[in-house]
This record gives sequence, C-alpha cells and structure tokens, in this order.
Amino acid sequence: MASKEQVNIDKLPLHVAVIMDGNGRWAQQHGQERVFGHQNGVVAVRETVEAAAELGIKYLTLYAFSTENWNRPQEEVDALMILLVQTIRSEMDTLQKNKVSLGIIGDTEKMPEGVKEELLIAIDETKYNNGLKLILALSYSGRWEILNAVRKVALDIRNEKLDENDLSFDSFESYLEASKYPDPELLIRTSGEFRISNFLLWQIAYTELYFTDVLWPDFRKKEFFDAIVDFQSRERRFGKISAQIKRD
Ligand code: FPP
Repeated sequence: MASKEQVNIDKLPLHVAVIMDGNGRWAQQHGQERVFGHQNGVVAVRETVEAAAELGIKYLTLYAFSTENWNRPQEEVDALMILLVQTIRSEMDTLQKNKVSLGIIGDTEKMPEGVKEELLIAIDETKYNNGLKLILALSYSGRWEILNAVRKVALDIRNEKLDENDLSFDSFESYLEASKYPDPELLIRTSGEFRISNFLLWQIAYTELYFTDVLWPDFRKKEFFDAIVDFQSRERRFGKISAQIKRD
C-alpha cells in the first residue's frame, strides 16, 4: 500500500482519469439500496480530488454519468442528479480553498435544467482557480463525443470552413469535447472490471491502464497513491522500442 512519500513528485502524470465503479455492489454488500453506494461514493470523490490536489496533479477527470446511465431506473437517475448538485454545493468552499477549477465534458443539453444551471454557476465561480482542473464527465460517452465531432466536421466542410484534405489527427481532435485538456496519461478503474465502458475512447490511445478490485466507495488516498506509484514504474514507449526511449 503506497503512501504519499512513495510518489515521485518529478514523474507525475499530467492527467489522471477515473472510472468510478462498484457503488451498487458496495451498497448490496452493506444490505442497502444502490443509492446508498452512490452517497458513499462521494467520500471517495473527495479523497481522490484531495489526493490529486496534494500531489500537484494538473487534470483529474471523473466518469460520473455516462450516456448509457440515462437507461437506469428513473429513481436512481434522479438520485444521482440530486447528489451531484448537493455535492457541488457542499464542496464549493473546499474547491475554492484548494484552487480547484471545475470543467465538464459530455452532452450536458440532456441534463435537467436545474442541474445544468448549478453546474454553470460552479464552473463560473471556480474559473480563476489555477490549481487542479477537475473535469466531470456527465452524460458522456466516447462514441457520442466522436460522432458529435464528425457532425461538426461535416458541417464545416459543407460550409467551406474546412477542406477535407486538411483533416489530420490534430485538426480532428480540436472538434472533440475533451480537446481542451491533454490526453490522460493514467486511467484508473475500480471494482475489478476490465472494461473501458465507452470512456475517452479517442484520448486513451496511449494511456496507461490501472485496474483495482477496490469498490469505488472504499477508494481512498492511499489507493490513489498506489495507482500513481504503479504508473511511475511503467515504461511508456508510444510504439517505439525500449532502447529508443532510454536514448531520448
Ligand atoms: C458506478 O457504480 C458509479 C456511477 C454510475 C456514479 C458515480 C457517482 C458518484 C460517485 C456520486 C457523485 C459524483 C460526483 C462527481 C459528485 P455502479 O452503480 O455502476 O456500481 P455497480 O457496477 O456495482 O452496480
């Protein structure tokens, strides 16, 4: 189990993304309704944000609600929306104190009006904070993001704002929601599932993946430090060979 002291501050990932999974199973293990798991998941959100801010990580993206999550029972969807608003309100002072600024990626048009308003207020109130950027993926999926980008590209080609011959990885990327932020260098998924679940599909091309059996509501700072220490032991080759990486 890693502690903060074991983390090499000179080799931090610039951007960490997290698939917070296992709230439902955690609730079941405690003989409670699923919502109880989400409520306790907020504790893990706080710990993770604090751990990332303490280390000096620049970007943290949390997969809080996927486009597919709209298909969950309505009472669970409603409870998640309420929890989101309550958490943002109750954590605002802590976000300000720690210079955390909030960002969102996803199809936010689908969010209920009241939730959308709260999110916009929180983004506005934290916009000058220059510490950690906390990005919430809400009503987000990688396929939605890519399809949305393709639609915008098609429109720009039709309106002669873009020549299809000028389309490159870089120019395409600028149409993606998450292009405002660097690609994640580390992706953590909790709860022992080995899936990407439609998260940041374009951006994770060279991301290091870290899976842990810990259910999200049990995830604490030490689990976050474990993931960072593990990341720091990896050799990232980006398609090159080891000798080239060592020489560079
Ligand atoms: C996945 O567990 C978790 C979610 C779909 C929601 C995550 C939301 C929170 C942690 C609370 C609020 C978040 C913020 C950012 C304030 P699951 O329900 O899929 O668990 P299961 O796989 O065990 O059923």
